[in-house]
Amino acid sequence: MSQDVLTPALVSEITAQAGRRRTFAVISHPDAGKSTLTEALALHAKVIGTAGATNGKSNRRETVSDWMQMEKDRGISISSAALQFSYRDTVINLLDTPGHADFSEDTYRVLAAVDCAVMLIDAAKGLETQTMKLFEVCRQRGLPIITVINKWDRPGLDALALMDEITERTGLLPMPLTWAVGIAGDFRGVWDLQQNRFVRFQRNNAGANIALTEYFTPEEAAAAEGDAWTDAQDEAGLVIESNLGFDTNSFYAGKATPILFSSAALNFGVKELLDALVDFAPPASPRPDVAGSTRPVEAPFSGFVFKVQAGMNQAHRDHVAFIRVCSGIFERGMVVTQGRTGKSFATKYAQQVFGRDREVIDEAFPGDVVGLVNASSLRVGDSLFLQDPVEFPAIPLFAPEHFQVARSKDPSRYKQFRRGIDQLEHEGVIQVLRSDLRGDQAPVLAAVGPMQFEVVEDRMTHDFSAPMRLERLPYSLARLTTAEAMQTLSTVHGAEVLVRSDGEYLALFNDVWALRRVEKNHPGLTLTPIGTQSPSR
Ligand code: G4P
Repeated sequence: MSQDVLTPALVSEITAQAGRRRTFAVISHPDAGKSTLTEALALHAKVIGTAGATNGKSNRRETVSDWMQMEKDRGISISSAALQFSYRDTVINLLDTPGHADFSEDTYRVLAAVDCAVMLIDAAKGLETQTMKLFEVCRQRGLPIITVINKWDRPGLDALALMDEITERTGLLPMPLTWAVGIAGDFRGVWDLQQNRFVRFQRNNAGANIALTEYFTPEEAAAAEGDAWTDAQDEAGLVIESNLGFDTNSFYAGKATPILFSSAALNFGVKELLDALVDFAPPASPRPDVAGSTRPVEAPFSGFVFKVQAGMNQAHRDHVAFIRVCSGIFERGMVVTQGRTGKSFATKYAQQVFGRDREVIDEAFPGDVVGLVNASSLRVGDSLFLQDPVEFPAIPLFAPEHFQVARSKDPSRYKQFRRGIDQLEHEGVIQVLRSDLRGDQAPVLAAVGPMQFEVVEDRMTHDFSAPMRLERLPYSLARLTTAEAMQTLSTVHGAEVLVRSDGEYLALFNDVWALRRVEKNHPGLTLTPIGTQSPSR
């Protein structure tokens, strides 16, 4: 299929394909059930025969999305990729996000590439720290959120109390699509409000298979479930009354959040979530460029790199750039233009990557994710296109809050050390700051969350054979500044100016008091907050 000439047939094919795409990420506080739900979704889509979650994390088969040694050791998922499957008449793209407690830039990058987020909440815990940060990031990005109350098979909070908490703490109006029948710990099924029917779940092989499901009319449900059914109707009714029911516009505008109930471990409510994605989640739509104009989905190919990852395949030490397709058709082998450099880029090695599984991909449509192997010239945020140039907005760097000096453990391996640090910076794993005073041998690494340092240490040891030492610096705050500040702040206690590799001057401060002191004593200095503050601040 050639996109040189956009025939009416091609235009309608691309528009239809974009309309079929649902591209989303599951996000949550660690342990709310993100990996379990990912497996359950894949099971429903029959990607994997049996969900691995039989007896919890320790006994279960590796989750399809884990691959790094460190992830396996720690039982967490650090890297991201995409899982694609068909469900009903749609193509679902589920992007994996890191599962650790730190808020990471990686999560933010994945959220830049999706059209919707599924927020998982542990029914017993309600809104946790990370949940709140993630709600805030979605708000900043204007990303619609579907909220899933998970672990309803275990004793937990009251459903209405959870709705109140969501309204009060996030400002989002909860709009129930399903409502649990039975209190937390006695999960009998859900009231499917769209179809007005009772969906009764039955355990099936401890969640390893799709749950057995039966459907009943409201009258049958009332007869069979008694108070549990009437309570569900009353409670959901109260929420609907105060929020005026489901409204797609307020969901897309990030003002309201559809609510579903689930037990990911038992596969309860998972099909209902897939149906909600198909019926209500936004399809791939035109994405604004830096100038604010939109390139139609049926325009010639365009996309942007949202993630770069090396070392995914230990045998090949490869380097994969993940691209979100924004318009047109991606065809393997096509030669595209890389916006930042203006150079041509051949897409010979295009793959769909999820965990260890890879498949050669020949074609992709708006909303899809393509992994380009050996794409070492591509960086996070790069736009790629055919024909008319387009530049998608940069994925902003977060203001770093943790700073550590890195030194090679073995001075004779300095070359490898340098190469490794450059590579990890290039991949966007860490920000690197330098100054003449500190010298090139001891760059300062800056990160949003401390976990990034462990990733760097691990990668330096295993991928670059350049073990290093890290030494924590007392700073916790950064501001953009100018070259003059370097001199002025060189004698100030609790502050220091370093240069980031993109040429920006960063003033670091021990704490907000040190910053205030400098602002008071040196009112002429430029000290600008960095574009995107981590939601923890
Ligand atoms: P995460 O990716 O969000 O970090 O969570 P993950 O899926 O790993 O799930 C965390 C724990 O919660 C796992 O138990 C998992 O089996 C359990 N879990 C997930 N969903 C449900 C659910 O719907 N109901 C119940 N009852 N449990 C669920 P684990 O590894 O054994 O940890 P733990 O339970 O021993 O702490």
